[in-house]
Amino acid sequence: AEAAPGAPADGAASFRRAVVVGAGAMGRGIAQVLAVAGVHTTLVDVRPGAVAEAIAEVRGRIARLAEKGALAPSDARAAAGRLAEGGLEAAAAADLVIEAVVEELRVKRELFAEVEARTGPHTVLATNTSSLSVTDIAAGLRRPERLCGLHFFNPVPLMKLVEVVPGERTAPELVDRLGALVSALGHTPVRVIDTAGFLVNHVGRALGTEALRLLDERIATPAQIDLVARSVLGLRMGPFELFDLTGVDVSQPVTENVYHGFYQDPRLRPSPTLRRRLAAGLLGRKNGTGFRADGSLDAAPGD
Ligand code: NAI
Repeated sequence: AEAAPGAPADGAASFRRAVVVGAGAMGRGIAQVLAVAGVHTTLVDVRPGAVAEAIAEVRGRIARLAEKGALAPSDARAAAGRLAEGGLEAAAAADLVIEAVVEELRVKRELFAEVEARTGPHTVLATNTSSLSVTDIAAGLRRPERLCGLHFFNPVPLMKLVEVVPGERTAPELVDRLGALVSALGHTPVRVIDTAGFLVNHVGRALGTEALRLLDERIATPAQIDLVARSVLGLRMGPFELFDLTGVDVSQPVTENVYHGFYQDPRLRPSPTLRRRLAAGLLGRKNGTGFRADGSLDAAPGD
């Protein structure tokens, strides 16, 4: 009989080689923390030039960590040397394949079907999806038990929480093994249920949704609400600052997914304001058009 996909639980040591598919914001961060923790990591992307760019950026970040004294120079050199460019064929020699490609079910399913065809049964498959169902992504596989959600947050090296999200058919051993890997990266794993938004994007949505309701009802301005969030609730940024940082193009679809995933629970009803701003291209910091484009925290009431 074949062993379950999650055998020994000794942190990063049981994952010596990884493939990260998708060399965007998240793939870069994931590759960085893996390489620093000792995992040989191959980056793969469909866009020509994306991987070379990603590796140069991650090596630059690792070098800066060494300059700041956060990493010994020899460790930084070793980490930089663990990053490689490759194609999906690298999956054949990998213990772990994690994807951080576009947030589209069809793309992720096609990708994993291809990965499955290239890997033996012991390679662990992980998805960094933020709002799709892990169960749905795994459903097309011959061995859905070897796929698990591993949801990092942006920026990966700084955001220490990582959601470990087993799908309906994920092998229980895999959850322990990926949790041990997350700990070995210096992060904190939290096991969550495969529901829309998982845990963080569900809990976090509550404040954003309520803040938009206050704005829509003209009870307070974004600046006032952010001020309260910082000075009274003690958050590092208010809900509108967070919308601006994340970008409405990213937040709005997640808000819709959480709402529909819970059968239109009125508590989770999205604000039309967000949809309107998305349609108008008022995305946030990425194009200088956020709720808080002025950056001030002390706007007068009613402005
Ligand atoms: P991004 O747009 O920065 O990067 C995606 C990369 O994937 C691009 O370089 C693209 O060329 C590549 N790609 C697309 N299809 C591909 C395929 N079939 N094979 C190989 N490469 C492919 O996106 P980002 O922000 O890094 O997000 C990636 C994933 O991570 C998404 O599923 C997203 O929902 C999730 N996520 C994003 C967070 C964020 O704050 N940006 C936070 C947590 C999860």
